[in-house]
Amino acid sequence: MTCQEISQRPLAITSSIPVKPTAAVIFGATGDLTHRKIVPAFYHLAKNGLLPEDFAIIGFARRPKTDAEFREDLRVALEQFSHTKPIDYSVWDKMSKHIYYHQGDLPDLDSYRSLAERLKALPEADAIQGNYLFYLATAPNYFGDVAGNLAEVGLARAERDGQVRRLIVEKPFGEDLQSAQSLNNTLQKAFPEKNIYRIDHYLGKETVQNLMYFRFANTIFEPLWNRNYIDHVQITVSEKVGVMGRGGYYDSAGASRDMLQNHMLQLFTLIAMEPPASLDAESIRDEKVKVLRSIPTPKLDELTKNSVRAQYGGGFIDGKAIPAYRQEDRVAQNSLTETFVALRLEIDNWRWQGVPFYLRTGKALSKQYTEISITFNRPPSVLFASSADERLHRNNLRIRIQPNEGITLNFNAKKPAKAEAQGVGMNFRYKQDFTDYLPEAYERLIVDALTGESTLFTRSDEVEQAWRLVDTLHAAWASQQSTNLPLYSAGSMGPFESDLLLQREGRRWASVPTDI
Ligand SMILES: NC(=O)c1ccc[n+]([C@@H]2O[C@H](COP(=O)([O-])OP(=O)(O)OC[C@H]3O[C@@H](n4cnc5c(N)ncnc54)[C@H](OP(=O)(O)O)[C@@H]3O)[C@@H](O)[C@H]2O)c1
Repeated sequence: MTCQEISQRPLAITSSIPVKPTAAVIFGATGDLTHRKIVPAFYHLAKNGLLPEDFAIIGFARRPKTDAEFREDLRVALEQFSHTKPIDYSVWDKMSKHIYYHQGDLPDLDSYRSLAERLKALPEADAIQGNYLFYLATAPNYFGDVAGNLAEVGLARAERDGQVRRLIVEKPFGEDLQSAQSLNNTLQKAFPEKNIYRIDHYLGKETVQNLMYFRFANTIFEPLWNRNYIDHVQITVSEKVGVMGRGGYYDSAGASRDMLQNHMLQLFTLIAMEPPASLDAESIRDEKVKVLRSIPTPKLDELTKNSVRAQYGGGFIDGKAIPAYRQEDRVAQNSLTETFVALRLEIDNWRWQGVPFYLRTGKALSKQYTEISITFNRPPSVLFASSADERLHRNNLRIRIQPNEGITLNFNAKKPAKAEAQGVGMNFRYKQDFTDYLPEAYERLIVDALTGESTLFTRSDEVEQAWRLVDTLHAAWASQQSTNLPLYSAGSMGPFESDLLLQREGRRWASVPTDI
């Protein structure tokens, strides 16, 4: 696709390929994710006219429920979690007539035999013609079972050309390289790779998709996007929340598995990748994988020097006392799980060699935001050497992924009536410049999976490359044989060691946004 074509793709959620009459089967249909994200996303797709009349949703879970009870549960959830209010009941009432509940046990093959029968007997079955989208919104230990059982009862493979048989898989995708490879093998035995859609909901965010437009639909940034002009890049995913009752899962994962392996490395590859040969899914994903492959195999001793892990102790956020991580529910009292990680990476290719990428993410930090900050080289100090050199700011781009979505370009301007430079900013703000409907990430992702557009989903090799990096990091930490790790106060921006990571190279973390 050419740049002109890119710019013609509208920002609001649309799909150039119509969604076929399909039955979407949600495994884990009584769970939090279904309530919080998946059903509101289907509702908004219906509201935007993106679902055909004969579109059925079948919820699969263990507890007994009638169709009517299930519909009522989802209505209540929609009232609570929809990002647009009030609910348009003309849309919901119509849509909910096509929602069904199937009670089953995930590892039990008979539950899939009865599911297959149920799908064939749906009132919409004639129109649906065996087009099925399966959504794995269950705990990850069931992913393999479900895919295997679907294959066993003949639901995984298309029976004819053009028939939809796709699988959406939630995160986390594995817990290390070996488990991710094994899960890939299991899923690929049931579904061809092109029909597997691994969710990283960051890729569904408009601001993340905009990274490609920003870089490749403009001429002014790309020529500067390299080691000749860029001093360093920072990526911050800062969470104000603690583990919020997910202590059991989080304590076995930590920030490196929960955030770094997926969302942060996705942002990293989108910022660093080469222009793809075209906008098709494979070309884009090829380029992203190349970035991950171009990270020099970090020696363990370098990684211990170039990374920081820490855990939050008690503190205050917005005046509220926050208990230490080790006092959270279902967290071991002597847990060494990191709730904060900072990492310095380099990419060994022509574009980026020598440019540090600093990544940091943590929980119980002072603000909730995700931002990419790109700092350019210092201008040569010939003209303003004596008077203003010390005050010349480096040019800097701040890309706000969330909240206050937008981009600010910071540059130097002359201060009126003074021979002094002052940093000023040019601002693009989504909410100001676009009045279009801003869809939630899950809406984009679900409509793409329904239409077979896999660009915004992670490919098997991409997931594995990301795990390779995180595994190396874990090996480096394990080699330290630490019996403790640095603590930071809840409500701060992480430990002192994270600041040191940049200070030792004469840099510092971009300031925390004040307007959130
Ligand atoms: N929640 C989120 O915001 C979020 C965000 C990102 C990713 N995820 C991922 O999404 C997945 C689901 O998370 P969740 O928070 O929705 O979990 P959850 O609230 O614990 O829901 C789990 C679902 O699985 C069903 N289930 C469990 N065992 C079953 C069995 N043996 N047979 C049939 N159904 C069974 C449960 O049904 P019954 O209770 O009826 O048995 C329930 O519907 C996880 O992989 C999670 O990592 C969640």
